[in-house]
Amino acid sequence: MTSTGLEHRPAPAGAGRFSSSSRHLLGLEGVPREALLTWLDEAAAWRARLRGGAPLPQALAQVIVVSAFFEDSTRTRMSFEIAARQLGATVAGFSAAGSSVSKGESLLDTLRTLAAMGLHVLVMRHPSAGAAALAAGALPCAVVNAGDGAHEHPTQGLLDLLTLRDAWQGRFAGRRIVIVGDIAHSRVARSAIFGLRTLGVDITVAGPPSLMPRDVGSLGVTHAPELEPALDGADAAMALRLQRERMESGLVPEAGDYARRWALTPARVARMAADAVVLHPGPMNRGIEIAPEVADGPRARVLDQVANGVAVRCAVLVRCAAAQRIAA
Ligand code: NCD
Repeated sequence: MTSTGLEHRPAPAGAGRFSSSSRHLLGLEGVPREALLTWLDEAAAWRARLRGGAPLPQALAQVIVVSAFFEDSTRTRMSFEIAARQLGATVAGFSAAGSSVSKGESLLDTLRTLAAMGLHVLVMRHPSAGAAALAAGALPCAVVNAGDGAHEHPTQGLLDLLTLRDAWQGRFAGRRIVIVGDIAHSRVARSAIFGLRTLGVDITVAGPPSLMPRDVGSLGVTHAPELEPALDGADAAMALRLQRERMESGLVPEAGDYARRWALTPARVARMAADAVVLHPGPMNRGIEIAPEVADGPRARVLDQVANGVAVRCAVLVRCAAAQRIAA
């Protein structure tokens, strides 16, 4: 969708601030270790029920969930809606395309309109950093951030943590992950970094210098100028899509050049630990950030990430709806 020009502004102070009793989930920055592990346990419990095949407890009966997507989505939107429906919620979806946003309605007016219909939980994706925090401050409902610009994507962060917890037999401390690609524009990378750091994971980021965040030094990660040595002995690698929609035109690398230096290829992933895994949040651009042989290979956990996404979103919706009911 068209740029709002706000994407790279810092999120408002407190945009990702965590409170364990909060009815909102806006980010993973500042979420304490115990709270992260509780989210993972709750998601794993929902996953076991989903796998069991019996109908899920209708924990969201009488709850109205609206998914408001001002940016495109496949996995995130579908998995929130599938989770909400399986839990008995009334679910309505909203896309900016085809709405009155195209007639000039402001974000706050659009959100207040949705809130006036009596929704309890708003799941929101928006191209501007801080948009979910703005909604949380302005509306009486619970707000779950489904991605705000280049800022955070907390449920993606949780599903990445759950996928890694499985791969690493429950032990995060002392593990090492390489996150490769467009770190500067990636909300997926930021949420993953916040969560992984809290759990004691050693994080290396790699990618073209033009796609490294200006504050890379303050993220608590190691910046590797070359991908190959960084992968040596690593316990996981996460490839990221080039976020062309968030880049100024001069920053967009040529696909072939990018792939030659930064794609996860079979030769590169062979440098990692024998049991290391490969993550990608999707959508994948095969042949650019990840070779098809790696995307479909034995180390790939891409579809596990997707399946874990439904379980994580069950846990998040139930907790936020419960907190909203207490608050309301
Ligand atoms: C990501 C997103 O939208 O932030 N996708 C996702 O939610 N699984 C990553 C991307 O678009 O590259």
